[in-house]
Amino acid sequence: MKLTAEQIQANWVEFNTNIEIYITGDRKQKLLNFYKKYEDRIILMPASHKKEYHSAFPGGYVDHVNRVVKAALSMSAVWEGFGCDMTTFTQEELVFSAINHDLGKMGDEENESYIPQTDQWRRDKLGEEYMHNKKIAFAAVPDRGLFLLQSHDIKYTFNEMLAIQTHDGLYDPANEKYLKSFMPETKPRTSLPFILHQADMMAARIEFEIEWLPKFSKDSVATPKKNYTLSSNKSTKSKALNTISSPGLKSMLDNL
Ligand SMILES: [Fe+2]
Repeated sequence: MKLTAEQIQANWVEFNTNIEIYITGDRKQKLLNFYKKYEDRIILMPASHKKEYHSAFPGGYVDHVNRVVKAALSMSAVWEGFGCDMTTFTQEELVFSAINHDLGKMGDEENESYIPQTDQWRRDKLGEEYMHNKKIAFAAVPDRGLFLLQSHDIKYTFNEMLAIQTHDGLYDPANEKYLKSFMPETKPRTSLPFILHQADMMAARIEFEIEWLPKFSKDSVATPKKNYTLSSNKSTKSKALNTISSPGLKSMLDNL
């Protein structure tokens, strides 16, 4: 799967626009500054290290996060329609959690979590386009994401902490303490974690369908549908490139 330079650029604009629209108070600017600081890294990050997972291609991370934001907003409307108590969380908490749910995938201040796989056998046989960067001490994705927010003085609410921490639902056994309780007192007091988890799961599943189902079709020649284009129009590509100030980022995008 490959996104064009224009798609990567448009996704980045959408990512920052979501912060502008939904995040309030002094943390809005702090969040914009944070993402500006790490722009060159985040804009080209994959959403996972292995192509059998989802969106393991340049720009896959932002593409995934934007989809989760949209899905979370739609999913919360579904929950509301079924009588969910919407007073237990705010729309800002929903979107803040969605924007930052996978932030821990970026690595630390100095090093990326995922770097290009150097072992050709693992690329060919295991589909690992990326490998974990050994320079970074292990931390679970939610833990690292929350650490990055607090270390950049970006405050989050208790609801946001809980939603980001448990966004993988029961796919991560560490979340059982929050999600598998049989005592009313220890169940979450808000449905926000369940809404974010469903949005994330739906987005990842749809990314799998876009990328993989065409390859499983009978004639194996079907092209991926809707919002992905495999080739780029030269004039729109150079137009998109002209809007990027960073020379390093420009040259990386130019090679796409
Ligand atoms: Fe995710």
